[in-house]
Amino acid sequence: MATKFFDHKRIERNVTLLGALSLVVVAIGGIVEIAPLFWIDNTIEKVEGMRPYTPLEQAGRNIYIREGCYSCHSQMVRPFRDEVERYGHYSLAAESMYDHPFQWGSKRTGPDLARVGGRYSDEWHVQHLKEPRSVVPESIMPGYAFLAQRELKADGMEKHLRALSRVGVPYDDKAIAAAADDLRHQANPDHDSDGFAERYPKAQVRDFDGNPAKVTEMDALVAYLQMLGTLVDFEAAAPQEQRR
Ligand code: HEC
Repeated sequence: MATKFFDHKRIERNVTLLGALSLVVVAIGGIVEIAPLFWIDNTIEKVEGMRPYTPLEQAGRNIYIREGCYSCHSQMVRPFRDEVERYGHYSLAAESMYDHPFQWGSKRTGPDLARVGGRYSDEWHVQHLKEPRSVVPESIMPGYAFLAQRELKADGMEKHLRALSRVGVPYDDKAIAAAADDLRHQANPDHDSDGFAERYPKAQVRDFDGNPAKVTEMDALVAYLQMLGTLVDFEAAAPQEQRR
């Protein structure tokens, strides 16, 4: 019955035909997966409370990436009972919508950090980062005492925020212009920055490293850690995300 063209032997013996037909089959699979993304409004539902990171938090995040903290820590609580009981509400997509790059991670030598904000005091974090075994005797985490000595290099924060705004993080011109002042203000409340609290709701303002004399890399990293998981009211936000 089958004509010569549909004879599978013919396809198998003709490498060009096999290649062309394979491409067609794979393309159908690809289109089915990719095409819907062009028609749905949004791949991530925005949830209340999520905001771009403050310049100080962003600087801390850069140190987190520079030091490779992600090689031992994930930032994504999966929706399994053991994880939710240990770390808190599972992570929502919207919580990492301003992450460039995201820090979900693929390895947990240490615990997940997506909800570590507010769990410990600043003093605990500083002590733990300087000498982890002084607070957790069995810890295998390396120490990062040098962060407390190093002054935070904050020049170029405007450019950094502008670059992030180009990839979709909603920093407006005012936020970009105020970046340097906002950064100083968050680590040192004596340094004023107009409109900081409105730009960054729930931002924690204080001297994070216990050394008011200078803004160190420790200030930035602890500010970042203390913010993680504190922006979104997830009990209220989870249904928002699932509603569509
Ligand atoms: C070699 C792997 C490793 C690296 C790299 C690492 N950590 Fe850890 N971290 C651990 C382990 C293991 C623990 C659990 C024991 C402890 O609390 O020290 C931990 C615990 C923590 C905790 C406490 C979490 C909790 O819920 O109790 C924080 C915060 C933390 N690390 C932050 C960092 C930061 C920030 C960096 C980068 C500067 C970093 N870690 C780099 C392994 C690592």
